[in-house]
Amino acid sequence: ALQRSVANKAQKQSQRLQYHLQPRASFKVAILGAAGGIGQPLSLLIKMSPLVSALHLYDIANVKGVAADLSHCNTPSQVLDFTGASELPNSLKGVNVVVIPAGASRKPGMTRDDLFNINANIVMNSVEAIADNCPDAFIHIISNPVNSTVPIAAEVLKQKGVYDPKKLFGVTTLDVVRANTFVAQKKNLKLIDVDVPVIGGHAGIMILPLLSKTRPSVSFTDEEVEELTVRIQNAGTEVVEAKAGAGSATLSMAYAAARFVESSLRALDGDGDVYECSFVQSDLTELPFFASRVKLGRKGIEALIPSDLQGLTEYEQKALDVLKPELKASIEKGCQFC
Ligand code: NAD
Ligand code: LMR
Repeated sequence: ALQRSVANKAQKQSQRLQYHLQPRASFKVAILGAAGGIGQPLSLLIKMSPLVSALHLYDIANVKGVAADLSHCNTPSQVLDFTGASELPNSLKGVNVVVIPAGASRKPGMTRDDLFNINANIVMNSVEAIADNCPDAFIHIISNPVNSTVPIAAEVLKQKGVYDPKKLFGVTTLDVVRANTFVAQKKNLKLIDVDVPVIGGHAGIMILPLLSKTRPSVSFTDEEVEELTVRIQNAGTEVVEAKAGAGSATLSMAYAAARFVESSLRALDGDGDVYECSFVQSDLTELPFFASRVKLGRKGIEALIPSDLQGLTEYEQKALDVLKPELKASIEKGCQFC
């Protein structure tokens, strides 16, 4: 086992070295909803990426000023703006990654599912345009309710005959970012080292952090598990309440979405060691979509990571059993929309 682990480490190091020796590639990224609360800081963070050659900012309004502002940053990517449905197709041509933070956000007292009636149409129209103009792109869906908007996107792509389940992602990175932050604070760990996989879906009890799989290995009391799990599950609501009607998480979301974009670009660029959690088409459980860790490669998802679901604690197994019917209903609601 020791030999195998040393060999694996050497192989990973050599993959990383090869990746870092290659010239930087140039990718095009489009953001749909770029003038919004998430869209603006996300655009800034992506403008800072050395892997991006062009940043296409699309929104139904107010995007010209955002693009003019960002274009003055002396980083490599060219910034182009696109306003309104007539310019949507051109915003997508030749794009490698499309991020969708378009749509309404929660106010106190609302669930993510309360956004379905507005955001389902926005995601459907956005994905129709993606299918027509850049069917090979990685699609990152941020718009809530993610548990339903991802199945909507899958149905649209199927109807257009271009569905590639390896390239459709519900962005759940913020759940991991929060879990890492809260665990590091609670256990007084170095933030950079902490990694907690978060599985299930993206709302309430469907967000299931696997604290027993925290790396580096940490032990938690039952009270700590309960407290941390509930805090991670309610973190979105914590922000919605603190903003008191002015929207939901935007800055931490932009940070998390930028991490997921950068991971996708690294994978597209040939880095062979990229893993992220995401809500994707899955056969890890009986549900057709499920969030888990995935390995990313040039063609999208290279593998789901089943080992995270093995050897769960009794608490995690029970929480998984309880979340499944709710997640199933959210997925079906999305599938039936189109
Ligand atoms: P926001 O209202 O500040 O911005 C939304 C933007 O979308 C606006 O600029 C608006 O003009 C634009 N828009 C509306 N219709 C559009 C269309 N048809 N095409 C393109 N753009 C369109 O909202 P926000 O705070 O940026 O949140 C956006 C979405 O992200 C919400 O649905 C929110 O619930 C979700 N969200 C998800 C996560 C997650 O973890 N996945 C985290 C935070 C927020
Ligand atoms: C979040 O987790 O912050 C987002 O899903 C936004 C929300 O409505 O909570």
